[in-house]
Amino acid sequence: MNQKPASDTWERGSPYEHYVGRWSRQIAPLFLVWLSIPVGRRWLDVGCGTGALCATIVDRCAPASVDGVEPSEEFLRTTRESLAGRVSLHPGSATAIPLPDASVDVTVSGLVLNFVSDQPAALVEMARVTRAGGTIAAYVWDYAGKMELMRLFWDAAVALDPDAVKLDEGIRFPLCRPDALDKLFASAGLQHIEIKAIDIPTPFASFDAYWQPFLGGQGPAPAYVMSLHESARARLRDSVRARLPVEADGSILLTARAWAVRAGVTA
Ligand SMILES: C[S@@+](CC[C@H](N)C(=O)[O-])C[C@H]1O[C@@H](n2cnc3c(N)ncnc32)[C@H](O)[C@@H]1O
Repeated sequence: MNQKPASDTWERGSPYEHYVGRWSRQIAPLFLVWLSIPVGRRWLDVGCGTGALCATIVDRCAPASVDGVEPSEEFLRTTRESLAGRVSLHPGSATAIPLPDASVDVTVSGLVLNFVSDQPAALVEMARVTRAGGTIAAYVWDYAGKMELMRLFWDAAVALDPDAVKLDEGIRFPLCRPDALDKLFASAGLQHIEIKAIDIPTPFASFDAYWQPFLGGQGPAPAYVMSLHESARARLRDSVRARLPVEADGSILLTARAWAVRAGVTA
């Protein structure tokens, strides 16, 4: 199949929300309940994207403050539109967070770490801005296992186009596994590391409802779909459809699992 090189495109907020932001918004409250951070804390959301996690912090955690750091100007603009005045937003990256040392109590990051090229440096940077005794926590999709809407997609894509294996997030991203998350957090000298699976249902009313978000081009799988010529895209669509468990009423009931990790900054 003809395809362009791998691209982790994060440029347009609305298609991102449709593809995965809406599911991150469902993981976020479960993740925050698990963290159980007292009210009145200073929070930082690294790679805040379109605001899924920081909006939930604002709504549910009664924070003293929330800062968000994000490299995509367009995602920042989207978040600014919905959270203006409630979150302080900064252009920046996980490896260069534009905040002073020990300036927050809790640093969180949703669905980001796999996309950071120097992950150990990102953890060191998160630990720098988090006060001693504070918390660092994150979640990533279980791309290799129970993030089913993507797993089924890549299984179909690779069966048709063995080259697509290079783009398969379950293979590209070793950090989608709990042992790798544990190792990364330990490498930054963090303590009391805990890991937990968070599962949500991802129901689709029809195959079209499942497939449409893949045509938005945001994120690795949609970027791959949109890199294909029309005939190859149609073959892939039919192959994905054949693999999905379609109910008698046409709906498709899948599960999405995120691996969540939390740890303490050494006091
Ligand atoms: C899957 S999205 C997650 C967005 C949001 N946190 C959520 O839960 O919906 C991945 C995000 O990571 C951001 N990102 C990519 N590389 C990054 C880096 N080096 N540092 C910080 N964020 C990064 C992208 O711009 C994008 O917003």
